[in-house]
Amino acid sequence: MNESNLIRENFSNTNKETKPKSLNGRLAKDVMHTFKELSTLFEEKFKTRHFPQQPEKLYDASQYLLTLGGKRIRPVMCLMGNEMFGEIKEDAYHVAAAIELFHNFTLIHDDIMDRAPIRRGMQTVHTRFGESTALLAGDVMLVTGYENIQKVNIDFLPKILFLFNKTAKEVCEGQQMDMDFEKMPDVRFDEYLEMITLKTSVALAASLQLGAILGGAGLGNQHHLYEFGKNLGIAFQVQDDYLDAFGDPEIFGKKPGGDIMANKKTFLLIQAMKVASETQHKELSRLLSLDDESKIQSVTNMYRLCNVDEWAKELKQNYFSKAMEHLEEVAVVSTRKKPLEELARYLMDRDA
Ligand code: IPE
Ligand code: IPE
Ligand code: MG
Ligand code: MG
Ligand code: MG
Repeated sequence: MNESNLIRENFSNTNKETKPKSLNGRLAKDVMHTFKELSTLFEEKFKTRHFPQQPEKLYDASQYLLTLGGKRIRPVMCLMGNEMFGEIKEDAYHVAAAIELFHNFTLIHDDIMDRAPIRRGMQTVHTRFGESTALLAGDVMLVTGYENIQKVNIDFLPKILFLFNKTAKEVCEGQQMDMDFEKMPDVRFDEYLEMITLKTSVALAASLQLGAILGGAGLGNQHHLYEFGKNLGIAFQVQDDYLDAFGDPEIFGKKPGGDIMANKKTFLLIQAMKVASETQHKELSRLLSLDDESKIQSVTNMYRLCNVDEWAKELKQNYFSKAMEHLEEVAVVSTRKKPLEELARYLMDRDA
């Protein structure tokens, strides 16, 4: 958005009493883009084909997932982290694209690992194109992500690459823990927390920090934004785990009960095991050993009996509050934090 648009937007949002006196004053500049506006801006640039034509099957498989949409939370967070410190830079769009490509790469591989048939309301890449093509479609997406990073101004490139690479390795580590936990009978809550921090929340945290780095933010601000994203990311994965059991599949876009079928150690299971009576505990263990889809209903019933809604709410609130404490510490005027606050609230109660 250029300066005149910023001013126009500012006026359209302001009534007579609160209209700023100076068009060039701070107030006009402090109007930030909303999540919706940023996703539109991102989508405009991102909607092109990212891959060559041949071999057709490989690149169609990669492009297929990208065209199914998604919430685009991570690239928008990168843009938000950037706009917090000034006008959005072109490099922020390159990094945002790299982040979204990286995210989609992890989704393709994750769906193979989780044996998931549905993603974003459509067939998963491996279900549609076969497992080998899906693996390659993910690989090539990761490389395409790096091609976008390569466009970043050389002054910022080392820092951007360092954080991007560190995050990518952590996601792999978290994904491995997630796999290992499937085979373990008992997983502690703190182990679950470490696993979801690595597989999910560091990517949200890094998206913000990458944007902030490009915006010239100081180390203190970068740190608090990262921690804001990390805590928000934990709440985000808690909601994802909750929706996997209780979401409306039409809206959530994934097959319900996938985590139960795969024996995932989600907070739902860990907490249910903790509060269950002896009989319920035995029954849960018995259900877990079954490989039959009818167990989904029985396990979710058990979760309900154990008051999952309450814990989910409490857990999310806890991490939301921690996130907000860090956002408060970011040393910019509060109007510049509004979009992130809105995003955080939206993510808490999302149903998709
Ligand atoms: C799904 O991420 C994977 C998780 C980390 C839970 P999103 O819920 O952001 O997926 P899309 O991109 O919106 O489809
Ligand atoms: C996946 O977590 C995290 C990554 C893709 C790195 P999930 O396995 O819970 O994600 P969904 O539910 O399949 O989207
Ligand atoms: Mg999965
Ligand atoms: Mg998974
Ligand atoms: Mg999930």
